[in-house]
Amino acid sequence: MAMTGKTRLAAVIGWPVGHSISPRLHGYWLGHHGIDGAYMPLAVRLDDLADAVRLLPRIGFVGFNVTVPHKEAVLALVDEVDPEALSIGAVNTVIVEAGGRLRGKNTDAFGFLQGLRSGFPDWDPGHGPVAVIGAGGASRAVCIALIDAGVTDLRLVNRTLARAEGVARDFGGPVTCVPWQHRSEALDGVALLVNTTTQGMTGEAALDLDLASLPKAAAVMDIVYAPLETPLLASARARGNRVIDGLGMILHQGRPGFAAWFGTEPEVTEELRRHVLAGLDVGK
Ligand code: ATR
Repeated sequence: MAMTGKTRLAAVIGWPVGHSISPRLHGYWLGHHGIDGAYMPLAVRLDDLADAVRLLPRIGFVGFNVTVPHKEAVLALVDEVDPEALSIGAVNTVIVEAGGRLRGKNTDAFGFLQGLRSGFPDWDPGHGPVAVIGAGGASRAVCIALIDAGVTDLRLVNRTLARAEGVARDFGGPVTCVPWQHRSEALDGVALLVNTTTQGMTGEAALDLDLASLPKAAAVMDIVYAPLETPLLASARARGNRVIDGLGMILHQGRPGFAAWFGTEPEVTEELRRHVLAGLDVGK
């Protein structure tokens, strides 16, 4: 759609930013709803981050997403940070409010839960314990979502135990830390297994996890979406487990920002999945 003098502008800032699916995601929604808006990728170096964050609202942007490696740094550059973003320790969505004030949000926990529910509509925290692999920023969002949803037994497995202990300290009660060497045993009796590490991503080794003790009734979700079917999901599927890929999470995490910037609640549909996948070139 051609831009006008009234076009609402949004963006994603990162370095590099070429890998981001957000322009394709938001571009689809803008076109679908016929909104006079534009969403662009902006490659911003760390040295320019503070200037860029301050300048964007002054030149008419209604907000922006933040991607790797700036999600943590932006936390300190906005005027207000939502409690959830503070707990996660990262901001992925910034909304320009009245007077140009910047509000930092993190929509990954929302995206995760919606992604989980779209792949497994009947999932219920009462089904049983959950094992989460990884303790980085993505894991913190996943843990918050699961705890808020009512999970009472969350087994957190990480290669570096101290990092898992940090998450357990911050989020308390439901989280039990499991040393890396006991990761396979942690799957015993779980209803859901979630990989939040980068293992299994294109160019990375597969997650080194023996699924022998994972109940057949358990669901397995990977937040990696390139490839769509990670080695973890392929092995889980082969032994009969229900699997949920990471694309739902990334699509749903975009919804709150779009709604705030453009005033329309967007939907995640099969057509959107196909549109974004076509741009990803990851097959399937
Ligand atoms: P993100 O913000 O995307 O979660 P991150 O903070 O870099 O990214 O976290 C990456 C996660 O993948 C961490 O849990 C990391 O484990 P460590 O805390 O021990 O570094 C995990 N990870 C990365 N490479 C790994 C590997 N080869 N084996 C196991 N876990 C790995």
